[in-house]
Amino acid sequence: MITIKDKTFVPLISAEAIQARIQELAEQINQEYADKHPLIVVVLNGAFLFAADLAKNLTIPCEITFIRVSSYRATESSGQVKQILGLNESIEGRDIIVVEDIVDTGLTLAQVCDQLQEKGPKSLTIATLLFKPSALQKPLDLHYVGFEIENRFVLGYGLDYDGLGRNTPNILVLE
Ligand code: IMP
Repeated sequence: MITIKDKTFVPLISAEAIQARIQELAEQINQEYADKHPLIVVVLNGAFLFAADLAKNLTIPCEITFIRVSSYRATESSGQVKQILGLNESIEGRDIIVVEDIVDTGLTLAQVCDQLQEKGPKSLTIATLLFKPSALQKPLDLHYVGFEIENRFVLGYGLDYDGLGRNTPNILVLE
């Protein structure tokens, strides 16, 4: 159990279960990208631990890069517009795997993927550690999913509450 500010979080997914599932995902990627030399695009900050543990289990040649997603309100009618920051490599003609911590509404990743697709990759798949199916608002083809979870706020293993709590080996849920 962890208390951060006014909120209490209780264990949801153990460190062992996370590591075992990541090994399975990595094996799947090793097989499916055996001869593809993919570029792994990690969405910071939340995916940093997932990406690190995933990468340690990848045995194929691959490159890894990191992006951030900024959001700003362009106009009242268009709502939140996300912009990709930090992508210095050309992704044209590349096999891309986008690594994300969690897909909640899916709105962030949908915009990120649309913008990446405009740059002409050969292929683009998504690897997310967590997925809340009942919160999804945009259809997304999630090729690699670690765990499907209920629509509750989670914390740890990269995910934060108000900037805190990223540094746990397990995932916790708001009590
Ligand atoms: P989406 O656009 O609603 O899919 O949300 C994307 C981002 O919101 C994720 O990359 C997380 O940074 C954050 N997020 C969504 N759900 C949670 C949660 O339960 N805990 C912590 N962060 C979350």
